[in-house]
Amino acid sequence: MESLPGFRDFEPSACAQRNALFYGWRTVARRFGFEEFDGPIAEPLELFTQKSGEEIVNQLFAFEDKGGRKMALRPEMTPSLVRILGKSLATLKKPTKLFNITEQFRYERPQKGRLRSFYQFNADIVGEPSLSAEAELIALAVESLRYFGLTEEHFYVRLSDRQLWQLWLKAFGITDEVLVGGILGLLDKWERRPKEDIEKDLIKLLPSCVQTQTFFEATEQLRHCKTLEAIEACFSQQTTDAELSEALHQRLSELEALLHDLAVLECEKFVAVDLTIVRGLAYYTGFVFELFETGNQGRALAGGGRYDQLFEKLTHHPMPAVGFAAGDVTLTDLLNKYHLLSDYKRTADVFCVFEETERDRALRCTQMLRRENFSVLYSFGEAKVLSKQLKKAYVEQPQYIVIFTQELASCGKVQVKCLADETMREVGLEEMAEVLRKKRKIEA
Ligand code: HAM
Repeated sequence: MESLPGFRDFEPSACAQRNALFYGWRTVARRFGFEEFDGPIAEPLELFTQKSGEEIVNQLFAFEDKGGRKMALRPEMTPSLVRILGKSLATLKKPTKLFNITEQFRYERPQKGRLRSFYQFNADIVGEPSLSAEAELIALAVESLRYFGLTEEHFYVRLSDRQLWQLWLKAFGITDEVLVGGILGLLDKWERRPKEDIEKDLIKLLPSCVQTQTFFEATEQLRHCKTLEAIEACFSQQTTDAELSEALHQRLSELEALLHDLAVLECEKFVAVDLTIVRGLAYYTGFVFELFETGNQGRALAGGGRYDQLFEKLTHHPMPAVGFAAGDVTLTDLLNKYHLLSDYKRTADVFCVFEETERDRALRCTQMLRRENFSVLYSFGEAKVLSKQLKKAYVEQPQYIVIFTQELASCGKVQVKCLADETMREVGLEEMAEVLRKKRKIEA
């Protein structure tokens, strides 16, 4: 029987890769002072239908339990984080920096980089209104990829701003919240859709006073602005409204301050201003970003941004927040492309083989070494002959094979074979343990 479409089996080598990824994410998150948290894999359905946005709602694995409760497998972690912290917001330490590594479920069409079950590394800063939170998270996202050996030649961060886009719509007189949400949703898919389809949607969305073609062309121009000066010039072609210009000026200086912090945190060469990024999730309110392989091949490696209103909407208690999530599917593909995740399969330190009379002695030694944190294998019942056990031992490729024979037992010794240099020596049990401890020290 096959696994379900979009779900994966993790056989040992894939599992070793996954663990290596999780280990790297966890290590870097701790370096940045983030604490790990977790929550349930299933949540009340309405947690996701309220504020995540239409796209995610359409992709939910939703069902009723036997008690008639509507529930869903989590498609993302952010609403759960809000629900969990929402219980104690009045006493929340500010800022609170949290991360987790969890499985998510989305009913998407399985394709390269997109599955129905995948893992995410989420990192969020809650209770911090300043841009230091954005800078910290973008730096964390960059370091979490640098950790694996990726450089600016392999990936980059596309940094954008939903507030700039809202100001842009305001320049066309569009301020209605639902309409703004609809156009931001359209901007999110802009890159992937033919011009005619976008225009058809614009005709439906734009108020009659805004000419579709003018809006389309001006918006195309803004989407491709790569510098703050170019953005300012693009706006000035559309509006001379003093209040709007002041708001734009203010926002651009915040963007400049964020870029400055990112430069000081040595992330400058990884970050590009890119207003084509809007983000599909509806709850973002400010700066947003996505990480991509250079050349924009494939789907995003990670994405996030500021969501200052989600706490208030879900818990009625205002609380600023910023976060991002990286996915394991695209990152594993990228790391494998550059052979940066291939050497993590662990082999045993020791394989004990023994003549039948020496079984108890070998098992006692096995347990003694395991309690010292060495990984040790031995042959189970069926392979009683030493040569068969040795064959099994070679298949496992341990660092050492320890051989227990009756002859050597009489002088309290064992044979230790090192597979790396093919040397063999006869030593007492304590000396054998000392050899292994020394080797471990060198490796550490
Ligand atoms: P997202 O952009 O939906 O954001 O997902 C983040 C990352 O998860 C994506 O960049 C991608 O690598 C991975 N991902 C998403 N869907 C799939 C899929 N079907 N298959 C494989 N990988 C996928 C969020 O989930 C936000 N909750 C992130 C966030 C945290 N914002 C604030 N805090």
